[in-house]
Amino acid sequence: MAHGGWRGRMVRGACGVAGFIGMMVVPAPLSAQTTTAQPTFTKDVARIFQAKCESCHRPDSIAPMSLVTYEETRPWARSVRDRVASRQMPPWHLDKGVGIQHFKNDRSLTDAELNTILTWVSNGAPKGEMTDMPSPVKWPADDVWNFAEQFGGPPDLILKSPPYTQKSSAQDAWYKPVVPTGLTEARWVRAIEIRPSTVKGRKVTHHALARLSQDEKSDDGQPLDADARLQNGLFMEWAVGKQGEIMRENSGKLMLPGSKIVFDIHYSAANEDVTDQIELGIYFYPKGQDPRYRQSLALFSGITGGNRNLDIAPNSMYVGTNFHVMRRAGRVENFQPHMHLRGKAMSIEAILPTGQSQMLSMVSNYSFNWHTNYVYADESAPLLPKGTVLKITSWHDNTAANKMNPDPNQWVGWGDRTVDEMAHAWVNITYMSEEDFNLEVEKRKAATSTTAASERQQRQ
Ligand code: HEC
Repeated sequence: MAHGGWRGRMVRGACGVAGFIGMMVVPAPLSAQTTTAQPTFTKDVARIFQAKCESCHRPDSIAPMSLVTYEETRPWARSVRDRVASRQMPPWHLDKGVGIQHFKNDRSLTDAELNTILTWVSNGAPKGEMTDMPSPVKWPADDVWNFAEQFGGPPDLILKSPPYTQKSSAQDAWYKPVVPTGLTEARWVRAIEIRPSTVKGRKVTHHALARLSQDEKSDDGQPLDADARLQNGLFMEWAVGKQGEIMRENSGKLMLPGSKIVFDIHYSAANEDVTDQIELGIYFYPKGQDPRYRQSLALFSGITGGNRNLDIAPNSMYVGTNFHVMRRAGRVENFQPHMHLRGKAMSIEAILPTGQSQMLSMVSNYSFNWHTNYVYADESAPLLPKGTVLKITSWHDNTAANKMNPDPNQWVGWGDRTVDEMAHAWVNITYMSEEDFNLEVEKRKAATSTTAASERQQRQ
């Protein structure tokens, strides 16, 4: 069967391909893997919830309940067990057995954290001593920009989506207003932050993305192909409590005069009507201090022959593959799959000029509710030579087994509506000259060998 068994065919955690840098899998120090036999909320679990759940599960945030105190948490213990055991919570749909595992914004539980929570629940979810309780997390004040201190003030440019009212009884809404940046000259971006403008706005803003739309050729100097012409640079996703994004060293995004911001906001109803705007805060590099490298975003189709060939029969699975050649060497900064309700999985693979291939990342449990942008950690963002082919594979599940599927008896084609489908990855690539690329490869080698050495020392 052409569409079956995709899980079984996946490359599991392969690494060490010659010429491929950035896949070093360094085992965690032993101390991080040990769990207490009798975990309590105050001593063990609260710390994990503070780090991995409170950003959403606290009063006045997007999740349905707070997991800050024992009293708030206890009634949810079983539900917590189910959601963490199935890895539905925290939302992180990247396959833990495939490809690169180090990300800047990883919000998933480590195996040790997961075990602690499961053991705690199966032991009856004991509270423990209040003296063991860690001090509460101080979440940033609502009106303060996270980078204000670091960059000496509020963002240089703040753009807002038009006010939107999410009625208490309304269905989920996807709102995509376009807002001009007003720029009259090109500027280099060094940091961005995105947030709802009110506390109540957080309750209804499930996620918010902002894309940069501007007229240009692809960054490797070639005219854009049909799929890429739909391209809008992805700025960032807002996830509650997230610190925003600072560009990698000496890199930036270039905003051109006449550019626009395309917002993509998912609103979910709260128990009252809420009106909010999304604020996008942008910090520029000072004029004349241009970074050396430009991050530019590509839309890589995962459909054989291009997006408009998407053609999913009723009650069936569907697989598509597309290939994208890197005409210059570069660093792949992130992976963000985009599909709709039938979306099931997407992978990105690098086929090197040597012919060897390397699975970079795979989201095998895609959920339209969570548009996560997986941003590679500095030491693991793949550095790929000129001529590398990036292979995107996408899987759709148009059967009744897909709980998100509104109607498995429908034929589904490409389209903008939520009930239509798409399959592409948003991928930021920092293209480089051969010389700069070789330099980055050397730097990476030096950095990874130091890390490996210090990890070895720690384990002794
Ligand atoms: C990025 C935001 C976010 C993070 C981080 C997050 N959650 Fe959630 N959680 C949600 C949202 C939103 C919902 C409600 C929608 C849904 O069920 O997907 C939810 C639902 C839940 C539910 C189901 C509640 C019910 O109605 O039965 C549980 C249990 C849960 N989360 C536990 C956790 C735990 C435990 C963590 C941390 C280990 C965590 N979540 C981290 C956003 C988050």
